[in-house]
Amino acid sequence: MTSGAASAPLSQVDTPLLAVALAQGSAVPASLAELDRAVGGVVARVITTGDFKGKRDETTLLYPSGAKPGRVLLVGLGKPGDVSRNTIRRAAAVAAKRARALGAKQLAFTVAPEARNGVSARDLGQAAAEGAAHGAWAFTELKATPDEPKPEVEGVTLICEQKEMKEVAIGQRVGDAVAAGHRLTRNLQMLPGNVCTPSYLAERAKQLADQYGFTLTVFDRAKLEQERMGALLAVAQGSDQEPRFIVLEHRGGGDAAPVALIGKGVTFDSGGISIKPAQNMEDMKFDMSGAAAVLGTFETLGLLKPKVNVVGLIPATENLPSGHAVKPGDVVKSHFGKTIEIINTDAEGRLILCDALSYVRRFKPAAVIDIATLTGAVVVALGQVAIGEMGNDEPLLAEVREAGERAGERCWPLPLWDEYRDLLKSDIADLKNSGGRGAGSIAGGWFLREFVEGYPWVHLDIAGTAYTDGEGPQQAKGPTGVGVRLFTEFILKRAGA
Ligand code: BES
Ligand code: MN
Ligand code: ZN
Repeated sequence: MTSGAASAPLSQVDTPLLAVALAQGSAVPASLAELDRAVGGVVARVITTGDFKGKRDETTLLYPSGAKPGRVLLVGLGKPGDVSRNTIRRAAAVAAKRARALGAKQLAFTVAPEARNGVSARDLGQAAAEGAAHGAWAFTELKATPDEPKPEVEGVTLICEQKEMKEVAIGQRVGDAVAAGHRLTRNLQMLPGNVCTPSYLAERAKQLADQYGFTLTVFDRAKLEQERMGALLAVAQGSDQEPRFIVLEHRGGGDAAPVALIGKGVTFDSGGISIKPAQNMEDMKFDMSGAAAVLGTFETLGLLKPKVNVVGLIPATENLPSGHAVKPGDVVKSHFGKTIEIINTDAEGRLILCDALSYVRRFKPAAVIDIATLTGAVVVALGQVAIGEMGNDEPLLAEVREAGERAGERCWPLPLWDEYRDLLKSDIADLKNSGGRGAGSIAGGWFLREFVEGYPWVHLDIAGTAYTDGEGPQQAKGPTGVGVRLFTEFILKRAGA
């Protein structure tokens, strides 16, 4: 989807769908008077009757005559004081999702100036571009006979004031790049395990490297053995699909120390010998969502080329049971050198990440952020609303949390207090890969911390936020693409952009 901007009286916008975002309240914004007059007062009527209240995600569709827009969609932003780039992004997504359902190939979107609540023109441009692309997304690649073919929404035009156009365009450039990365992430997430294998992820990384000029390194099983990535290899040994360890490098920052992003790439997590119940096991194709977020972020980086160095690392494997699979009780040696007693083969994410956290030291990173669908426990703790955030460095934790705030991908901290380290004591090895029943997400975080040495680090547990099991007003069921916006905000801030 492409985004553009135009300045025109609302009644004169020639579009199949004009979406107007409004905050909660019974007064008709003065900015709508011109449109309202042209359509014979229906806009004012729907507001003054209270039929449309402006609540978050609320919509009212009107078919006015006397004006150029084929349809007018009022979209609620929620409480006036809460309006932000996040609520605007969401309203744009709601509008675009409706546009797709209506079969409209184009949509125009505007936020009533009275409702803006101080959101800058740049943020408006970015949020509208991100939101519209998010809402319009649908995955149809694998349907041979689509149930109800709907055209793609090809473009969104933001209606704004002439004097804001320049700033809006700056924001839209970022928003379009984020949307492209986000789209890649979601498409990868959605692909089933038999298509999206570790080598497939490596191929997609190669496409990105070729397209944007990133440096790419890919290790196969033989090379991983040479590198002694024993923990990643232990997870991979049950599968006929070869593991891959993928490293992408964007160099925009000269000699500066890079930011490293590490994404969990388990392309299917059956649990291994500690096999999962059959119910919803198909969702474990989403266990490469962290990897997908890293690849999507590189698409965004390729488009924006910020002046900063970024390394992306993806340990990729399946987790399957077989006659040669790793077993509970087995002890393996990690790349770092610590030995691990594998209590539960379903705690595989931490095993593949620990070798990446060890390997990343060679880049002398300024900061390392890993992103992983690591624990079911984070869904219990925070639901589908927030990312679980842990780490070893308060300033970096705050910086990531603030990036998440701007991105509308909120993080909430969980403590890595010393007492929790006891959960991982092993009788036989340096540590075990699974604690008891309590504090599951923290045990996962603490495990990773044991392999962090010499750099500030944050761990993001996205098991609750990577995908949804139902449809929302702002997005289709399935992958959310979480991480791309947060990483982009983080990196652009570091680049001083
Ligand atoms: N991939 C799962 C975590 C997960 C659960 C992601 C639900 C998305 C939704 C992870 O590999 C896993 O199985 N974790 C175990 C850890 C336990 C064995 C210590 C879990 O959460 O049960
Ligand atoms: Mn697992
Ligand atoms: Zn997993």
